Amino acid sequence: MRILVTREIDEAGMALLRDAGLDVEVHRGDAPIDPDRLRERVAGCAGLIPMPTDRIDATILATPGLRVVACHSVGVDHVDLDAARERGVIVTNTPGVLTDATADLTLALMLAVARRLGEGERLVRSGRFRGWAPTMLRGLDLRGARLGIIGFGRIGRAVARRAEAFGMEVAWRTSSRGIPLDRLLASSDIVSLHCPLTDATRHLVDAAALERMKAGAILINTARGAIVDEDALADSLEAGHLGGAGLDVHAREPRVHPRLLGREDVVLLPHLGSATWRTRREMACKAAHNCVAVLRGQAPPDRVA
Ligand code: DGY
Repeated sequence: MRILVTREIDEAGMALLRDAGLDVEVHRGDAPIDPDRLRERVAGCAGLIPMPTDRIDATILATPGLRVVACHSVGVDHVDLDAARERGVIVTNTPGVLTDATADLTLALMLAVARRLGEGERLVRSGRFRGWAPTMLRGLDLRGARLGIIGFGRIGRAVARRAEAFGMEVAWRTSSRGIPLDRLLASSDIVSLHCPLTDATRHLVDAAALERMKAGAILINTARGAIVDEDALADSLEAGHLGGAGLDVHAREPRVHPRLLGREDVVLLPHLGSATWRTRREMACKAAHNCVAVLRGQAPPDRVA
């Protein structure tokens, strides 16, 4: 049986696929596979291991003989789940293994924005550092700051544990539980996003939500770019309302919003949340196990549709 992996993944995952006797095709290269090329190459495949950068739409899901889409990600917003259900294609993801890496990166971004690390680094590298000064680059203390977490699943809870160790006061909400969104926004010094991207959460942080946030507050996003209305975020920062933002994810990756690119008060990362050696190995293995299970007629461990 043939399967397509849309990007080079950790060798441990590849070995699992080959040991299962699968004929594994991999898209190699330094950019995501072109959508038309993906449509061509998936023809004749029983399994597909896509990345979050690939849009798995109804056309791809209609590929004759395709039985499983084993996502190499916990997020599945890039897959048309209704079309998958209609076509009887099983969809799986990689929950759990990237929780700690993503929570660590969230705290790194929080510290980077609160303590102005980007500005400090640029100052040193540009040769403009003239020595220690009592008023230079003062930032926000995490101890005593209030953190509002939107989305309190595995990653949100892992962020809360870390934040408490820093002496932060944590408030949280999910779509149905926790403190009301308005109250969370209005009372938090830092708001961190950990909900999935769905129709309900697209632009959840829009102009009105940003307006409700405290003056000088910081927004952190390690979930999905489109949860934030980036135009509204740029407006709020330009108006001096929000104090800063830390973004690992962007609405139109790899494009970064042009009005955010030049800002000193924004830290921008290239979707690195799960980018550790161990996590990427475990993600590759999970995707491979899920794919192999379905192709052997077994229930995959991480079925989402
Ligand atoms: C995911 O898994 O959904 C991340 O965004 C990529 O690690």
